[in-house]
Amino acid sequence: MYVDSPDIQVIETIEELQNKLNRNERKNTTVGFVPTMGYLHAGHLSLVKQAKEQNDIVVMSIFVNPAQFGPGEDFESYPRNRERDIQLAEEAGVDIVFIPSVEEMYPTDGGIRILPGRQAHELCGASRPGHFDGVLKVVLKLFNIVDPDRSYFGMKDAQQLAIIETFVRDFNVRTAIVRVPIVREEDGLAKSSRNVNLTYLERSEATAIYRALQIGAELSAQGADPSAIERQVSEYIVSNSSGKIDYVKMLAYPGLGPVTVGAQEVILACAVKFSSTRLIDNIIMSTKDGTYVPNDDEQ
Ligand code: PAJ
Repeated sequence: MYVDSPDIQVIETIEELQNKLNRNERKNTTVGFVPTMGYLHAGHLSLVKQAKEQNDIVVMSIFVNPAQFGPGEDFESYPRNRERDIQLAEEAGVDIVFIPSVEEMYPTDGGIRILPGRQAHELCGASRPGHFDGVLKVVLKLFNIVDPDRSYFGMKDAQQLAIIETFVRDFNVRTAIVRVPIVREEDGLAKSSRNVNLTYLERSEATAIYRALQIGAELSAQGADPSAIERQVSEYIVSNSSGKIDYVKMLAYPGLGPVTVGAQEVILACAVKFSSTRLIDNIIMSTKDGTYVPNDDEQ
């Protein structure tokens, strides 16, 4: 293996990373890539674990991408901790961590935009206009810089994952996309960098989100229809927390169209705001005997 140092390599420039990962030099060494915005937690580290199992070297990027935050969103207050992140990445076995500055990633703006399609109009796309344009922009740049054999994304951001899969398939981007299940706190709250911005009370109330989704999944297994499920999930969250519902929606997955007969998988997804902290979560379900039941990794 040509990157065999036990120490993590911290790289800040595109040129240095591209030189290091040059296909001629790396030959048959496989590269697994884990893009992140940092403030690492066990969710991110499960992506690293899977990447390590399937590749010779693992590259992680840490970049809070301004292009995917809208005006008034939490770009400034998004949590950051460079030294802690480098240490956690090293302990998890990341070989190279790429931490570029905003100027390094976006030195110019030629005005070209990537416009995701239908999938981006639903769920988070409806309340965060332009968000997925910014995600695809940075992800395409990172794919071109790292040239990974496999790239790892969490089901926590299921819509992001679905859009990236479509993008990679339709534009023949040369990387495989690997889906990684959601990692949760013991009380069920999905791990998220944003959880630290919750107050003590909000943190305890936020457990209502996953409980509500589980209730929705039970109703689904009993054959309830999507609109009844969405209504009951919303009601549970509103009655059991101070969270404000952005959306609760059940759609076909990964196409994100309406649930129609024949959809193999569906997503029950929600976004809930506690003060200025917006949390998302979801459960994926598969068709079974005419209803939708949670996948094995969801239980
Ligand atoms: P970030 O929110 O840091 O997440 C990085 C990756 O970790 C994403 O693929 C996300 O789905 C995954 N992840 C986060 N929490 C998880 C959890 N609890 N369980 C499993 N996986 C989890 O998503 C982004 O950054 C950005 O949009 C990015 C893709 C890096 C582009 O800027």
